[in-house]
Amino acid sequence: MGEVTENNSDMSILQRIATSDVPFLKDYGLNGVVGAVLLAIVIPFLLTSVFSRKTKKRAVQADVGGEPGLAMRNSRFSSLVQVPWEGATTMAALFEMASKKYSRRKCLGTRKLINREFVESADGKKFEKLHLGEYEWDTYAEAFNRACNFASGLIKMGHNLDSHAAIFSDTRAEWIIAAQGCFRQNLTAVTIYASLGEDALVHSLNETQVSTLICDSKQLKKLPAISSKLKSLRHVIYIEDEPVEAETLNQMKHWTTLSFTEVEELGKTSHIDARLPSSSDTAVIMYTSGSTGLPKGVMITHGNMVATTAAVMTIVPNLGMDDVYLAYLPLAHVFELAAETVMLASGTAIGYGTALTMTDTSNKIKKGTKGDVSVLKPTLMISVPAILDRIRDAVFKKVGEKGGVTKKLFDFAYNRNLAAIEGSWFGSWAPERMIWDNLIFKPIRAMLGGRVRFVLCGGAPLSSDTQRFMNICLGVPVGQGYGLTETCAGAAFSEWDDTSVGRVGPPLPCCYVKLVSWEEGGYTISDSPMPRGEVVVGGYSITKGYYNNEAKTNEVYKVDERGMRWFYTGDIGQFHPDGCIEIIDRKKDIVKLQHGEYVSLGKVESALSTSNYVDNIMVYADPFHNYCVALVVPAHQALEKWAQNSGINYKDFEELCQNDQAIKEVQQSLSKAGKAARLEKFEIPAKILLLPEPWTPESGLVTAALKLKREQIKTKFKDDLNKLYH
Ligand SMILES: *[C@@H]1O[C@H](CO)[C@@H](O)[C@H](O)[C@H]1NC(C)=O
Ligand SMILES: *[C@@H]1O[C@H](CO)[C@@H](O)[C@H](O)[C@H]1NC(C)=O
Repeated sequence: MGEVTENNSDMSILQRIATSDVPFLKDYGLNGVVGAVLLAIVIPFLLTSVFSRKTKKRAVQADVGGEPGLAMRNSRFSSLVQVPWEGATTMAALFEMASKKYSRRKCLGTRKLINREFVESADGKKFEKLHLGEYEWDTYAEAFNRACNFASGLIKMGHNLDSHAAIFSDTRAEWIIAAQGCFRQNLTAVTIYASLGEDALVHSLNETQVSTLICDSKQLKKLPAISSKLKSLRHVIYIEDEPVEAETLNQMKHWTTLSFTEVEELGKTSHIDARLPSSSDTAVIMYTSGSTGLPKGVMITHGNMVATTAAVMTIVPNLGMDDVYLAYLPLAHVFELAAETVMLASGTAIGYGTALTMTDTSNKIKKGTKGDVSVLKPTLMISVPAILDRIRDAVFKKVGEKGGVTKKLFDFAYNRNLAAIEGSWFGSWAPERMIWDNLIFKPIRAMLGGRVRFVLCGGAPLSSDTQRFMNICLGVPVGQGYGLTETCAGAAFSEWDDTSVGRVGPPLPCCYVKLVSWEEGGYTISDSPMPRGEVVVGGYSITKGYYNNEAKTNEVYKVDERGMRWFYTGDIGQFHPDGCIEIIDRKKDIVKLQHGEYVSLGKVESALSTSNYVDNIMVYADPFHNYCVALVVPAHQALEKWAQNSGINYKDFEELCQNDQAIKEVQQSLSKAGKAARLEKFEIPAKILLLPEPWTPESGLVTAALKLKREQIKTKFKDDLNKLYH
């Protein structure tokens, strides 16, 4: 068992210290005095590392109701936390109290636009380049005032208090102001992913009978084309982040249209009293890009939001007013909304940015001007694994290109720090780490502004390589969150002092996590060495269910005899001895092949993704055959480099993807990756197809968190998949 072997290795370190034989001091030829001084520094350090490595119980078993299973709760609290502080029972109350507490602190920051220009590339395509200036800030008091004005303006404009308002915009300060404005009038805000397609948009607005739509200028342009389908819509409020053409507005004469500023002005001159919500009222109906069919609207209550907020606040070490947070992920994703609420609750400054303007070399940043991180210098960031993977790949590529001494030094420093983090006693000497940090890793840290001290990561599992890369090159802990829209982001979160990889931590203090045996899948809570089963989450962060869809709600939500809500995630997890959860599989992604073998698609995909050639991969198993196949989006550079080296001629990447030798090369690499991960023969794709076009959220083939949308991919490549089985 893990616990026992760990204790053994700790023992051997203790024994080595206890015996006077301390080889590294002798090797360094140091005399007794220096040795003693060094020992005085080193021993406490080793001891702390010894003790902190002792398996600390991060979660303890809990006695709960509902279906039989093994339930755990966070060990730091004796009961579930429900609110960040007394009185903060709703989003509206939380923001109002925060705005009094931190009134003159920076709250929401937006970069000033200095200049916008278009450059033309060789093939005639136009690219927008922005020259952005400093951040301009609203203080907490100002932001709160704006929300109050917006709330009044919304009513004055004619919004019917019995109907919903929707927010359809990229992440920006106005998003939070609009949402808080709605909350102050007990209005439910419907939120929609900005990258969802037209059908999904029409469906969401229609299903919730939205009468006021708040959007940015990019989304505004989409409205005229679908206006006849938006039957319930009466009012449109547009954020003027870009100049809005009179022509666009002309096509919307049948609605009342006002700019965001006009609504705020309207509210300023005619105050309307707040109509505050209660904790059980629905704050947000969040339409998530589900992996199948039309999006479902998850009803999130004020109580859900503040519970998650309270819990996450206890996870980020020393969170507070000196922190600066870079906000750029979609706010229509519960993960970002929860993170920004945590920031608001703790008096942190939230600076807005975008993925395309983040660094000095980002696509949309005008050459020679600064990216968001260089100007903001954030201390806290949030990310999804795919973004961190890209940062890692970019750094390794750069180091590889430099080669020579740089690469040798980098590799050496990297391995030393890796050993330190993974707890080998030689490597854990703090001063050495400091030297490498300054010499090698500082410039890498500067890429993200140089001050990042904690990264929250969620949305999908983070690979252990990338997690280690972040620890070493950025010198920061990565807190991995696990949760879904249905659990209001909150379910589990790894703690900052936990340097293990691949796990998602203990349950958040606002909920229980329970494993329920799934016999058909072969996962039970009596499994050894660890109990396994479907992850079921219960507690204050569990949402009300799907809007207008009782059947689906009853299928995946259950209320136990004590009145506690539980959500059945469909994920398979296991509990480590310290109570941390590891997600190991997904219930619905299991396919039974013709001969009765089970293929866990997610598991196979993550194993095959370690091949250099894979940018994205979807494994497909037809239950009527005895082998599986795969659609692979190859990594351009890796495949082109191989083609060059093997002297293959090709016109463009598309042609290369059809080249038999290329297919064979990728397949061999997949096979190798599969064998390394000890996959069964039937799990390794027997045939593959290379697809030249990357899968992006815009193409509708992956979610905004870059998870595969199996159904969509299957539909799009139906014919190709059929061919692979012939
Ligand atoms: C809007 O919803 C109604 C039911 O509430 C349905 O009958 C109608 O087909 C929907 N329209 C669109 C365009 O989705
Ligand atoms: C808020 O609005 C909902 C829906 O209209 C209503 O049921 C609830 O009672 C309201 N809450 C309060 C505190 O008035």
